[in-house]
Amino acid sequence: MSERLEDIAAAMVTPGQGILAADESSGTIKKRFDTIGLESTADTRRDYREMMFRAEDAMKNHISGVILYDETLRQKAADGTPLVDLIKAAGAVPGIKVDGGAKPLAGFAGETVTEGLDGLRERLAEYHGLGARFAKWRGVISISKDLPSWGAVKQNAQALARYAALCQEAGIVPIVEPEVLMDGQPGDHSIDRCYDVTEWVLKTVFAELYDARVSLEGMVLKPNMVIDGKNARKASREEVAEKTVRCLKATVPAAVPGIAFLSGGQSDEEATAHLSLMNAGFDMPWALTFSYGRALQAAGLKAWGGKPENVAAAQQAFAHRAKMNGLAAKGDWNKEREAA
Ligand code: 13P
Repeated sequence: MSERLEDIAAAMVTPGQGILAADESSGTIKKRFDTIGLESTADTRRDYREMMFRAEDAMKNHISGVILYDETLRQKAADGTPLVDLIKAAGAVPGIKVDGGAKPLAGFAGETVTEGLDGLRERLAEYHGLGARFAKWRGVISISKDLPSWGAVKQNAQALARYAALCQEAGIVPIVEPEVLMDGQPGDHSIDRCYDVTEWVLKTVFAELYDARVSLEGMVLKPNMVIDGKNARKASREEVAEKTVRCLKATVPAAVPGIAFLSGGQSDEEATAHLSLMNAGFDMPWALTFSYGRALQAAGLKAWGGKPENVAAAQQAFAHRAKMNGLAAKGDWNKEREAA
């Protein structure tokens, strides 16, 4: 594959394909495994991810890239094949989460800033050597009556921009992820409030990316959809699609090759339906696809249940979600195909 940032970014948003976010930290994957009553160990984490990466049809046809956690990037499948090689063999680009998580922001009660810039240049060089060609950094913005504050929005945007510039220096495409939470506290905000905050955050992020001399052609944006809080669900699927596209058009330059959404706590079907409605209903200057974690993995995780005898059924469940989201990336998903 070409090593130009533009070409890697284009491969990450190949039409009809999207990104599998499998970069849960050890703490987060433990929470996921708790739901199936499975102990989280290096081996169970490996077995689970190997199950997905060996789902050949899903990986070859619908997954353009996989975001990994540090441990997984270094892990080998049960037969000794590096997991990265399984991903590459399926024609997908391996990626790596490089942020150190959202930590309380001093002086800003209830808000966070994402850590991990110190030593990042050296870590990126190592990750490039291990095969990663894109990276992910997630900034987190919470909505409440009084939040977010300008200080938190600005500092998260600055961190994202510094991260993105370091990635490009290392020949790695940055996924820039400023997530406005749908499932924060109290989570009762309206879709219009989400629109206003998302617009503010994206305007700020692109201003910082410009100041940091980040090449927009060599990045992928990973935003939230414009949607009401998890405890205030009212908006129709059509309204979510229309307001999300309107907000992105108002803020994301056309030079950005692709936008890959996070699922953020939406149900599997909602996340798919929203993406499909956007692609079916609107002309847009960028590719619009998925970079889902929960909405791609939940069905497969449940079907697997940690048991080797369930691997085939789990791969089938994962493949179905990958296929449905692949259809959504082209605007071709519908309820009949969902049920088939
Ligand atoms: P969800 O799709 O589960 O929100 O996860 C995507 C992700 O990578 C969040 O950083």
